[in-house]
Amino acid sequence: MKKGLFISFEGGEACGKTTQIQMFQDYVDKHDNKNNFIFVKEPGGTILGEKIRNLLMFDETDPPVAKAELFLYCASRVHLVEKVIIPALNAGKTVIADRFFDSTIAYQGIARNIFSPEEIINLTHMLIGDLKPDLTFYLKISPELAFKRKNSDIPLDRIEKEGLEFHKKVAYGFDTIAELEKDRFFIIDATKSIEEIHKLIINTINNKLKNK
Ligand SMILES: Nc1ncnc2c1ncn2[C@@H]1O[C@H](COP(=O)(O)OP(=O)(O)OP(=O)(O)O)[C@@H](O)[C@H]1O
Ligand SMILES: [Mg+2]
Repeated sequence: MKKGLFISFEGGEACGKTTQIQMFQDYVDKHDNKNNFIFVKEPGGTILGEKIRNLLMFDETDPPVAKAELFLYCASRVHLVEKVIIPALNAGKTVIADRFFDSTIAYQGIARNIFSPEEIINLTHMLIGDLKPDLTFYLKISPELAFKRKNSDIPLDRIEKEGLEFHKKVAYGFDTIAELEKDRFFIIDATKSIEEIHKLIINTINNKLKNK
């Protein structure tokens, strides 16, 4: 029985998800509230998930075909859900996720176009039931601008190496899901300053927790 709040951060590469989650984590730590929160990232977040993350993002020896890629993301997710997310929610904690199934719909569904978004949603239901975020922050930015933010000293992962056209489809994918899931999507203009976005996120999460 779910008691905690589930919040995800979504958006294309370099929109600022990890930056904002890290700042929120620091805020929670500073307010001595860290026992009420748990932070996870996808793919990953478990020992098995981190191995899958490495295969998906950095292992160039035999890159997965598109459908294998989809199922590797799903394997990492269902493992994380059962081992970490559901127990944390049942314990009343707020779970903050750096990406969740909306990314799979946008990247593997809409951008790679291997299955329709509906088929990916059905697959997700088969794996994780009706679990879905209560609130999803979508950090919206054009892929052109996001690419400029990339730190050239850090090697690109396999997905980041996809060209601009691919990332435009991903952006279109997130816009489409945001339109369909208006009730839980909170769209943020990711070109605003890091500090401004941080304040907006704190206020929105605190309000959501108050009205839970
Ligand atoms: N609002 C902002 N304005 C300007 N630069 C930003 C902003 N937010 C993040 N950045 C910078 O953009 C880069 C990418 O940010 P970050 O790693 O948080 O993105 P991400 O969404 O987690 O990306 P990925 O999907 O690749 O994990 C970093 O160098 C970060 O400092
Ligand atoms: Mg990140």
